[in-house]
Amino acid sequence: FPSDAIRNFSIIAHIDHGKSTLADRLVEGFLTGTIAKLRKGEQQTLDKLKVERERGITGQYSSNSLFKSKYASFGYLFEGTLKAQTASMFHSYMNKCYMLNLIDTPGHVDFSWEVARSLAACQGALLLVDATQGVQAQTLSVFHVAKEKGLVIVPILNKIDLPAAQPELMAAQMQSTFGVNPSDILHISAKTGKGVEKVLEAIIRRIPPPVSALARNDKRLKAFLFDSSYDKYRGVISLVSIQSGVMQRGDRIQSIATSKRYEVTDLGVMYPEEVPTISLREGQVGWMVCSMKDSAHVGDTLHRVGETVEPMPGFKPTKAMVYAGIFPVDSNDFVKLEESIKRLTLTDRSVTVSRESSTALGQGCRLGFLGTLHMDVFRQRLEDEYNANVIITAPTVPYKVVYGDREVYVSNPTNFPDVTDTSNKVKEVQEPVVKASIIVPEEFLGEMMDLLFAHRAGETDYRYLDDSGASSSRILLTSVMPLSEIVTDFFDKLKSRSSGFASFDYEDAGYKASNLAKMVFLINNKPVDALALIVHRSTEHAVGRAWVKKLHRVIPRQLFEVPIQAAIGKKIVARETLSAMRADVTAGLYGGHHERKLKHLENQKESKRRMKKIGSVDLPQEAFFDILSSK
Ligand code: GTP
Repeated sequence: FPSDAIRNFSIIAHIDHGKSTLADRLVEGFLTGTIAKLRKGEQQTLDKLKVERERGITGQYSSNSLFKSKYASFGYLFEGTLKAQTASMFHSYMNKCYMLNLIDTPGHVDFSWEVARSLAACQGALLLVDATQGVQAQTLSVFHVAKEKGLVIVPILNKIDLPAAQPELMAAQMQSTFGVNPSDILHISAKTGKGVEKVLEAIIRRIPPPVSALARNDKRLKAFLFDSSYDKYRGVISLVSIQSGVMQRGDRIQSIATSKRYEVTDLGVMYPEEVPTISLREGQVGWMVCSMKDSAHVGDTLHRVGETVEPMPGFKPTKAMVYAGIFPVDSNDFVKLEESIKRLTLTDRSVTVSRESSTALGQGCRLGFLGTLHMDVFRQRLEDEYNANVIITAPTVPYKVVYGDREVYVSNPTNFPDVTDTSNKVKEVQEPVVKASIIVPEEFLGEMMDLLFAHRAGETDYRYLDDSGASSSRILLTSVMPLSEIVTDFFDKLKSRSSGFASFDYEDAGYKASNLAKMVFLINNKPVDALALIVHRSTEHAVGRAWVKKLHRVIPRQLFEVPIQAAIGKKIVARETLSAMRADVTAGLYGGHHERKLKHLENQKESKRRMKKIGSVDLPQEAFFDILSSK
C-alpha cells in the first residue's frame, strides 16, 4: 500500500458512548463476508476481552456502570489478546482503495503513558460523544493528549437515533469544551449505521496520511513498538507502526532501548484478527513476532541490524503512584502468588514489584501501580486468571520526605520516619497532588463542593459547559487535591453523591508540602507494623478513634486486659481497652464429660494455629484480613 492511501486513527470515547459499536460498524461494512466468518456468536468482533465478556460490558451491564468504566478500556492489559480494538480495514473512496488502521487507545489517563504511545502511531482521532450524555471528564483528558500530539480531531455525536438525544445542545457543549466548529461535527448512529459512511469519508479526507517517511525518501527500516501482549505459544506479540522502510519475515532487527537483536519470525495486519502478510511497509500498522523471550519494551524503536535510525521521541517512563501490599491468605501459597504476579507483569510492565514481609501477614509483595484503576484491573486479573486467594492492603501513595540535603521517597508507611522526633531531622514532608476534574449536572454542585472539601481539595474552579440554563446544565469543576484522598473510596462517594451522574478524572500535579505524620497502632503496648498509616494532622484524632474502634471490634478478648492505642510519635491520640476474659475453656463444663472436654481443647488448639502473636496477644489471621483488606 502506498503510504498516501493509509490512514492511522483511534477513537476517543467515554465508556458506553459507543466505541465498540462504531469500530464494529466500520469494520463490518467493508469486510462483508470476512467478518461474518470470523464472528462467533453474538459477540462483537472487536470486543474480545475476557473481563469485558464476563461482565457483559458491551451490552446490558448498565447496573454497575462504575465497575464498567473501570474495566472497559484496558484491552491491552489482557493476556493472549492483542489490542482489543486494533484493526485494519479497506475502503474504497472515489475509485481509490484506502487502508484504514484503527488503533486502540485506553480511555483513561491512569494510562497516560499508553495513551500517548498509541496516539503517537496515529495522525487523527475520532472524538465520539454520546448525544444523550454529553462530554465526560475522561474524554476531556484523552482529548488533551491527542491535541498535544497534533492529531486531527474528527468530532462525532453518536446515538442520534435515541429520542433523548440532544444533538444541538451537545454540539454546543463540544464547541465550548473542545473548541470544535459545530459544522464539523458528524451526527451518527453507530447502532443503525446512519452517518457511518460520513465517518469513513472524514477519516480519508480530514486525517492526513503518514507521509513523513515518504517525504524524506528514507528506506531504512524504523518501526515504533507501541504495544505488546503475551501468547502462551508464540511468546511476545508486538504491535508496530512502520515509520520508514519495510519489515519482512527473516529480517534481523535490533532494539534501540535494549540493543538486543532478534529475527522477525512472523508478521501481518489485524484484519481484525491477525492475518499474516509478507511484509509491513512504511505507514502501516501491524503485528510482529520475533524471538523475544521476556516482555517487549513498549515505546521502543526497532531498526535493521547494521543500520542506525533516530529513536522515536522518548515516552515518560511509567511512575508508580499507588502502592499496596499483597499477601497470600495461606502463607504456603507465597511462591505461587509470586509466580502469578510475575506472569501478569509480563504483559504489563508498568506494575512494579518488590518483596515485603510483615509480622502480621508474613511474606508478600509490594506492588506499585499507575493509579487506582490500574490497581483494580490488576487485582481483578490476579483473582480471575490465577484464582489466587489474596489480601491486598489499603493503597498508599509515595510520600517525599525532605531532610537537610536529601529527599527520600517512602511508599510504605512502615518506613515513614517519626516527624515529631526532632532527632530525625525531617525538614518537610510532601505528598503527591493531582489536578482533579469533575463533570456534573449543576444541581449536584453543592454536593461536589462538600465532597471535595472533605477530601482536602484546594480552591475549586468551575465553569459551565453549556448554557441551557436548566439545572441539568453541565459544569466542569477543577481542583488540586492530594492523591491519597482519592485512592480509597472517593470514586464510590462521587458516584453516590451525584446519583451516578458525575464523571471524574485526574492528572499528576507534582508534590506539595503537607502536615503529615505516621500513625502507629499499639496492641498491648506493642506496635503492629502492618497497621501503620500516614495521616494529615488535622484528622489524626478522628482517624485514630475510628481505627482503634475497628480494632476493638475485631480483636478477640484475651486472658488479660489489652489496651489498643493509636499513637503519633510518643503522643497517644486514641485508646480503647479490651477487657479480659477467662481462659479455661473447660471451666464451664462440669466433671465427667471427658470427650467434650477433649473436643474443646482440640478446637482451641486448632484456632491457636491460625493465630498471630503480637507480643503476648493472640490475633486470628482473619482479624488482620478484616482490618487491612482494602475491599
Ligand atoms: P464498552 O463496550 O463498555 O467499552 O463501551 P463502548 O464505548 O465501546 O460502547 P458500546 O459500543 O459497547 O455501546 C454501549 C451501548 O450503547 C451498547 O448497548 C450499544 O448497543 C449502544 N449504542 C452504541 N451506539 C449506539 C447508537 O448509535 N444508538 C443507540 N441507540 N445505541 C447505541
